[in-house]
Amino acid sequence: MKLIVTPDTLQATATAAAIIAETLRAEPASVLGLATGRTMEGVYGHLVRAVQSRETSFSEMTSFNLDEYVGLSASDPHSYRHYMQEHLFDHVSPDPARVHVPCGAAADLDAECAAYEKAIADAGGIALQLLGIGNTGHIGFNEPPSLFDTRTRVVELDDETREQNASMFGGDADAVPSRAITMGVGTILDAGRLLLLATGRVKARIIADALEGPVSPQVSASAIRLHHDVTVILDEDAASNLSPETRARAVIG
Ligand code: F6R
Repeated sequence: MKLIVTPDTLQATATAAAIIAETLRAEPASVLGLATGRTMEGVYGHLVRAVQSRETSFSEMTSFNLDEYVGLSASDPHSYRHYMQEHLFDHVSPDPARVHVPCGAAADLDAECAAYEKAIADAGGIALQLLGIGNTGHIGFNEPPSLFDTRTRVVELDDETREQNASMFGGDADAVPSRAITMGVGTILDAGRLLLLATGRVKARIIADALEGPVSPQVSASAIRLHHDVTVILDEDAASNLSPETRARAVIG
């Protein structure tokens, strides 16, 4: 695992964006796994500017998002599809046929999950998977306990996650859907490379649990330590609970 600690949030998001931009420069038809959430807004801002200045291009890539709320259609302003359009896709001209977000409004959710897994396999698998981390230790929406061989499926969201995401629903945790479709931990571990980004002191405790505690389904993010090609990018605040031993291994970004 490569650990990069940056002095501030701006540099953490810029470092993650630079890795994605470089991946697309090296292989314009890369298959990317994308994430949503507040942490990623800065990453997508950097990427939009990189496309505008012609440093990289999304025109040939294929993407698969990690998750979507059950019951929300693509046009719902709270949906992750809407988030992706607003923060990235509307600004970087991807081929719409190659952009994938699970459909939370599907009539048959199990069929939607199976089709999503098949679409990832048909695309040749995900080369680079971008990940955030939730307060429960989730990656995607893999709430504890999530076995490490889980695939795309419907999950119940923890109350803590609904609290975490309430700010995107007018501050009302009850307005946050109670279920979501998420790639499984196994789906995520199949990606060629993992890039986990966390910023802010609010993530410090769970980052220490994920990187230094037991590798366990109780902390889904700990599964990344089983992967052969992982980069973790943290700002100083998110790294603030790590032991001196872990910190000593970090590259200063
Ligand atoms: C979102 C996702 C989640 C978030 C995590 C952190 O697609 O997969 O795992 O990355 O909940 O969210 P923020 O960045 O809002 O703290």
